[in-house]
Amino acid sequence: MPTPAFRGRPAPNGNTRHRVARGSARNLRPRRAVRADRRKRYAGPVSADAATAWRDALDSWAIPQEILDAAPESPWGCPVELFARRADTPREPTPTDLRAKEALPDGGTVLDVGCGAGAASIGLAALASHVTGVDGSAGMLDAFRERAGAAGVAATTIEGMWPDAARRTPSADVVVCSHVVYNVPDAPPFARALTNHARRRVVVELMSVHPVSNLNDLWLRFHGLRRPTEPTADDYAAVVREMGIEASRADWVVRDWHGGFSRPEDLVAFVRRRICLTPDRDPEVWEAIRERVVERDGTFGLPPRPNVTLWWQGTAD
Ligand SMILES: C[S@@+](CC[C@H](N)C(=O)[O-])C[C@H]1O[C@@H](n2cnc3c(N)ncnc32)[C@H](O)[C@@H]1O
Repeated sequence: MPTPAFRGRPAPNGNTRHRVARGSARNLRPRRAVRADRRKRYAGPVSADAATAWRDALDSWAIPQEILDAAPESPWGCPVELFARRADTPREPTPTDLRAKEALPDGGTVLDVGCGAGAASIGLAALASHVTGVDGSAGMLDAFRERAGAAGVAATTIEGMWPDAARRTPSADVVVCSHVVYNVPDAPPFARALTNHARRRVVVELMSVHPVSNLNDLWLRFHGLRRPTEPTADDYAAVVREMGIEASRADWVVRDWHGGFSRPEDLVAFVRRRICLTPDRDPEVWEAIRERVVERDGTFGLPPRPNVTLWWQGTAD
């Protein structure tokens, strides 16, 4: 265990299966007195239409200003290291990989929106003549270019936020967008721009529940704050349906570990940043998460969660 500062080890696990210890009830107990006004449970979106309900539900994840003001750094943001490892870790083809591959002609082109280091598209490189990565983060695009180069596929990167960046982005045979949509309150223009950039197919992957909802018990424990549980993949599917798009859907669980942090301290720092605590709280954060930490092939992470793949017909010429 390379963390003398934190007591105990994560649940050990073998090379091919995750063994995850369940968190104990003790871990879920709030650490200190809780202000009554923070204990309100989010009642769910009240909006009539699916797109507004999606936006309202995402808005409900806003962190109270006093917690943000006291946080030493922004709780948002995606570490390049995490997504680089995700892109580098070999895996059994997922439904997302398979649905993208079957629509991609030999020598076809791929557009990866919110590409990160390319976890959703670099695996298609052997079939493709060109991949384009769009991302708001320059660091992610560096990692994407590096991996496209190593895979021997021609690549273009476009720094910018989708759908604004769509105007500068060429269409492709297949458009993939993996683990991005929970960042996007205004879902219809985003999905529309994916659709009109795909000649053959759009493939969207998202978690079945909000990606940071696995930290909800920690918010309660450390801040006395009850976090929302919506929106979900069902809500996103409803938005797409409301747009008149006929999407197919696969629900699946991750069979392979898709990357994590190389040191438990880095996982703890990541979680601590996400829940707006200062570094001196790291031992307490470790204590709160250690029973659920998954260790595999020298990486440390929280248990993988169910995913949903949605795919539909593109409309680009
Ligand atoms: C959770 S990561 C997923 C990365 C990669 N697709 C994967 O599956 O590993 C989300 C990525 O989307 C990018 N991103 C989020 N919203 C975006 C937007 N509206 N336009 C472009 N990139 C966006 C972030 O910078 C980040 O690299």
